[in-house]
Amino acid sequence: MPEPPLAAIYPGSFDPMHLGHVDIIRRAHDIFPRVIVAVLQNTDKTPLLPVATRVDLIERSMAGLGGIEVTSFSGLLVDFMQQSGARVILRGMRAVSDFEYEFQIALMNRRLWAQAETVFLTPNEEFTYLSSRVVKEIWQLGGDVSGLVPGPVFEVLRTLPLPR
Ligand code: PNS
Repeated sequence: MPEPPLAAIYPGSFDPMHLGHVDIIRRAHDIFPRVIVAVLQNTDKTPLLPVATRVDLIERSMAGLGGIEVTSFSGLLVDFMQQSGARVILRGMRAVSDFEYEFQIALMNRRLWAQAETVFLTPNEEFTYLSSRVVKEIWQLGGDVSGLVPGPVFEVLRTLPLPR
């Protein structure tokens, strides 16, 4: 029986998706035959966008690429990976400041499931300063985020009322 295609999972909050995420997904798509983008349903945080909207925006932003699966998950990432047949975790590594947290969760995930391997991809240098937190802050303060997020995300943010 042929082996199933090597599936890689790109988990995150994507609240909202930005161009650094798009860059990582493109790079992953060039390497892995199956890429699953998985949006965490995190009940601890109050999100800017509901999970269903985030999933929809990722699907629409990546529509031109083809073959990208987008879904949401709750609970442990390693449990979701085993359900979806993925054993590679993709994470973007922008700078040394990302390292400590990323190293910690990579080792923890492997402790939870010995087959889980984390692969770090570096985005194009023009995106090293980009994060969802920074995008959110600029948007909340009425700044221009048009060059920071994909078109579908910009359209949603444009019509969303700014917090008072
Ligand atoms: O985009 P983010 O918020 O940095 O992504 C963090 C994410 C979703 C990758 C991480 O919080 C996660 O995998 N959460 C699921 C819960 C889990 O498996 N925790 C154990 C590993 S620390």
